[in-house]
Amino acid sequence: MAVQSEIGLIDELVRLRAELRRREREAADKELQLQRYAADLRETFKQERSRAQELRRSYMATVRALSNAVEARDAYTGKHAERVAAYGLVIARKFAPELTITPELEFGYLLHDVGKVAIPDAILYKPSSLDDDERALMSRHPVIGAEIVSGIEFLAEATEVVRSHHERWDGTGYPDGLEGEDIPLAARTFSVADVLDALTTDRPYRPACSLGYARAMINSESGTQFDPRVVEVFNSIDDEVFERIATEIR
Ligand SMILES: [Fe+2]
Repeated sequence: MAVQSEIGLIDELVRLRAELRRREREAADKELQLQRYAADLRETFKQERSRAQELRRSYMATVRALSNAVEARDAYTGKHAERVAAYGLVIARKFAPELTITPELEFGYLLHDVGKVAIPDAILYKPSSLDDDERALMSRHPVIGAEIVSGIEFLAEATEVVRSHHERWDGTGYPDGLEGEDIPLAARTFSVADVLDALTTDRPYRPACSLGYARAMINSESGTQFDPRVVEVFNSIDDEVFERIATEIR
């Protein structure tokens, strides 16, 4: 009886060992499958990332080409859009870093004056001041620009800068007369960068002003033309940062 029960126990042990080995094999197979799956995912992710980077480079090249085409008409502004984009990004990274995660903000900065393609040379380069009709036509360039870019899906967010880059904090800007925080954040950071570049580059009617003078002018318009918080952020950025951009992009 004792011998029989011992044999039964041994049989059970053998069966359990076989079962254990079977489960170990299954577990090893599953682990292998998971490893292959993870490797596939890594490869897919790598390919997707490289495709996304390629797409992003193509978008940027397209936007730059469009921006250069607009600027090629004006010998004086040179690389104005590129410098403004660089100044604007420096300010935006400190003021609203969330805006700079995607390249849309930079697209908007680069294309802010794209609507000027529709403004006749006679008005755009008129050496004397514009009459009322000419000024009315000129002031349509943000709306025309927004219409141009709004049909392009990857430029959807850039439209805000293009349409609102001449709005003023006190509500006296154009085309919509937006006031304060109703003006898109991207456009508020842009206007400080735009004036900074306009003042620190040569113009047909005056030589470039110093950075110190430009700072004083921008501060004197804090709360009227500009969002005071953007001006504060602008004030906290060292001269060297802007000077380096001005030297590199000319
Ligand atoms: Fe403009």
